[in-house]
Amino acid sequence: MNELDWLKIKQMAIMWVKEASNQLKASLVETIRVETKSSPDDLVTEMDRKIEQYFLRKIQAHFPNHAFLGEEGISGEEYKNRDTIWIIDPIDGTTNFVHQQYNFAISVAVYHKGEGKVGLIYDVMNDDLYHAMAGDGAYKNDDRLERLTPVDIDKAIIGLNARWLLYKKKANHLTMIELVDKVRGVRSYGSAALEMAYVASGRLDGYVSLKLSPWDFAAALVLLKEVGGCYSTFYGESLAILKSSSVFVGRPQFHQKVIQKFVHKELKS
Ligand code: IPD
Ligand code: CA
Ligand code: CA
Repeated sequence: MNELDWLKIKQMAIMWVKEASNQLKASLVETIRVETKSSPDDLVTEMDRKIEQYFLRKIQAHFPNHAFLGEEGISGEEYKNRDTIWIIDPIDGTTNFVHQQYNFAISVAVYHKGEGKVGLIYDVMNDDLYHAMAGDGAYKNDDRLERLTPVDIDKAIIGLNARWLLYKKKANHLTMIELVDKVRGVRSYGSAALEMAYVASGRLDGYVSLKLSPWDFAAALVLLKEVGGCYSTFYGESLAILKSSSVFVGRPQFHQKVIQKFVHKELKS
């Protein structure tokens, strides 16, 4: 197989995601070991590590020249020097996985020379696969997603974690409060990848986080690009695919308007 046959790579990635999701579903009836990482709200389970290892083994076996970057850190530093990189969150929404057994996803992206080629976000419990390949459109299962159209701020529903409203969390909390005040509604699902898949599929109009890592947003950007969604940091700068940063994604025009109306005002003050 040609190493850069993106359709084949996408099909293999889908197969692995489905297999990994079966492992996750099976684990729900067992007692899972849970640990905390940087803080009591930063959880990791044995399944996060097991699923990440599963992808690493598959990728090393089939694409030994590809690099791997996963949240649980088994990748090392060599990923910086390879042309093709897999960026994987084995469970996005671990807190939901542990507490609710619902609303968690597997996020898999393949980038080549900095460009998103394949993006998959799998909503495990609903069996919904959001998938995209560069230039080939984005899909939810078998349905092609429509191109996103603009929406007015006062008619928009956005995804946002309420913690970003706390005083001096990362941005000026007053900016966040004003944004929450002006949109039609705010939702918080606890999985950044799923929330951005909802933006790509039109269920949400935007999603804001003041700190995400590459494995949280890499796959979502591939989906969003295919449907004409906009993405940047919360301050309107381009996202660097291998760096943690704030992330703001949304419908065209809506995205720009929010940055102009709320964020630029904050930067000026
Ligand atoms: C987290 C989830 C959560 C978001 C956090 C992420 P994890 O990922 O996406 O919704 O608010 O910033 O770290 O730790 O469950 O993979
Ligand atoms: Ca995550
Ligand atoms: Ca994770």
